[in-house]
Amino acid sequence: MPEVRKFFIQTHGCQMNEYDSNKLCDILKSTSNYEETKVAEEADLLLLNTCSIREKAQEKVFDQLGRWKKLKKHNSNVLIAVGGCVATQEGENIKKRAPQVDIVFGPQTIHRIPSMINKASQKNNKLAIDVTFPSIEKFDYIPIPKSCAVSEFVTIMEGCSKYCSFCVVPYTRGEEVNRSLDEVLFEVNNLALKGVKEIVLLGQNVNSYKSNTINGDIVKFSDLIKYLSLIDGIERIRHTTSHPIDFGDDLIEEYRNTKLANNLHLPVQSGSDTILAQMKRKHTSLEYRNIIRKVKMIRPDINLTTDIIVGYPGETDHDFQQTLKLVEDMNFSDAYTFIYSSRPGTPAAGVKDTLSIEEKKRRLYELQELIREQSKTYSQKMLGTTQKVLIEGFSVKTSKELYGRSDNNKIVNFPSAKNMIGKFTNVMITEIRTNTLYGEIV
Ligand code: 5AD
Ligand code: SF4
Repeated sequence: MPEVRKFFIQTHGCQMNEYDSNKLCDILKSTSNYEETKVAEEADLLLLNTCSIREKAQEKVFDQLGRWKKLKKHNSNVLIAVGGCVATQEGENIKKRAPQVDIVFGPQTIHRIPSMINKASQKNNKLAIDVTFPSIEKFDYIPIPKSCAVSEFVTIMEGCSKYCSFCVVPYTRGEEVNRSLDEVLFEVNNLALKGVKEIVLLGQNVNSYKSNTINGDIVKFSDLIKYLSLIDGIERIRHTTSHPIDFGDDLIEEYRNTKLANNLHLPVQSGSDTILAQMKRKHTSLEYRNIIRKVKMIRPDINLTTDIIVGYPGETDHDFQQTLKLVEDMNFSDAYTFIYSSRPGTPAAGVKDTLSIEEKKRRLYELQELIREQSKTYSQKMLGTTQKVLIEGFSVKTSKELYGRSDNNKIVNFPSAKNMIGKFTNVMITEIRTNTLYGEIV
């Protein structure tokens, strides 16, 4: 019997990276002689799945690699692998700054890791590197998971062709590529057979999804939702993330479909038309408002969340006030908010940025205060209501409580027993502490 080796994986960044790391675990367990450890010191292979969306995220990578260098000093057989967006962006340069790295792989080449490990094990100090974008081939190599949670991610597309002026994603993850309808249906059918009740459709811009039926008809994202909701056992469908320019009336109409969950994450980035144009978002604030107005006609109490950047080069106080106004008018219940970070190679990186960091921080703080208030009000409104909750597991604080997610994507804790995990149940919301909801089964 060959010796079993151990791998440790650390993930930075978005849900796409979380997904890739999970699949990487499955690949290593099924094709190599590796098992996972949660303790870095025990590992023969250290994997870092990285994010480069903002400068801070990128710096975290080299801090971590510095810590792992010490582990390699104790055991020279340890291999270090860097994947994700920093890997694509920096390529061979990673080895210059961090010579302890043995393998560099990209978001589209996770399935080639086993052969890269073989190469790196030859100990010739040569970097095993593959950061190419071989279309959508990685999905052909991802093994079917042995066990599933009640809610599972399903990647339907990868990459982005929108080229917003500030964003590195089209360069690090490549242009948009869609998985075929057949493949997605096959995967979701399999998940349903394994007892999965909820799926989260994943992609950088899920709503630009396009595929063909076997008759050659075009399948849009709204059609995909229709097809998936016909699968027995799949009771709830979520999706993330979308772009406003592909949010057509057909998709809005799909919010009449009761299997489509009652939350929508739709990044807006700014409330100012001047800034939106400079960001190359290809829509105005009014067009965004129109989408939300129509969605809310069908789902008045939808949980609406967004992404916002403050301090984009040239953002005036007037532009920022328009962002605050939009946030108020849309009544977002939450938002991921960021200070603009200049990314090498993006068009915005060349634009002169004169705003002081103090002013950027002040704007971020003001925006976050407003969102905090709205978030509180949204949760308070749920007090006393009954929510259909899909029970996911034990609550983090006590084994006497379980937690689940309501249709509008809020986590709810309540007393219950283990055998309820995986079931839908009605929970009355009785208490709200900061951002956590508590309730009782009714
Ligand atoms: N600076 C700050 N925030 C950014 N985002 C993307 N690129 C940048 C950048 N250069 C934010 C956007 C996007 C989210 C995933 O990250 O808001 O929607
Ligand atoms: Fe980046 Fe824009 Fe694509 Fe979103 S839509 S991933 S912000 S380029």
